[in-house]
Amino acid sequence: MTDRREHWDHTYTVKSDTAVSWYQDVPERSLALIRKAGKGSVIDIGGGASRLVDRLLAESYDDLTVLDISDVALSRSKERLGAEAIKVGWIVADIMRWTPERQWDVWHDRAVFHFLTEEAGQIAYIAALKAGTRPGSHVVISTFALTGPEKCSGLPVQRYSAETLAARLGREFALLTQESETHPTPFGTTQDFTYAVFRRI
Ligand SMILES: C[S@@+](CC[C@H](N)C(=O)[O-])C[C@H]1O[C@@H](n2cnc3c(N)ncnc32)[C@H](O)[C@@H]1O
Repeated sequence: MTDRREHWDHTYTVKSDTAVSWYQDVPERSLALIRKAGKGSVIDIGGGASRLVDRLLAESYDDLTVLDISDVALSRSKERLGAEAIKVGWIVADIMRWTPERQWDVWHDRAVFHFLTEEAGQIAYIAALKAGTRPGSHVVISTFALTGPEKCSGLPVQRYSAETLAARLGREFALLTQESETHPTPFGTTQDFTYAVFRRI
């Protein structure tokens, strides 16, 4: 935990959250896919300092949780939200070492699963995913696409198509939709992402 946590705490300490490659002012695609899944409970895995939670609060989602390995990242979001932060459940945890104690209607993950390049980590993530969802829950995951970068935040990543992601998650998750996105970074470069939505069977 410590090395990974130190990496992310350091990243969020030295960079403003609008200066990281993954920054989005409005996470349009995630929002659209979450809206389609319905107005239930949502957990944002590795939500970091993302504005997704702000937007969901503004749309009256009233059962929101954000999990991240970095307390620094979550503190940024809490500060930004001010009094609204109390409406959100905040969890500091390594997704590979976390056992959910409840289930959510929507599990959202943008650019977190792709950091798990070793099988043991992927298996641990999928165990948490299974414990944190129930049949009928929706899972929205975005990773770097097969044409995306090989690294993110200086760390190697596993790139996926919707099909390879579906194969990795296994038969309990039925692929419903897939979308591609070319994300413009704050530095004027682009990154190809795969978005895939699954329904827990
Ligand atoms: C590339 S950033 C994406 C942040 C956010 N999802 C977004 O789209 O703006 C990856 C995030 O995952 C978090 N993270 C990385 N490894 C993690 C792990 N093992 N468990 C939980 N969070 C993790 C990082 O702290 C960081 O906030």
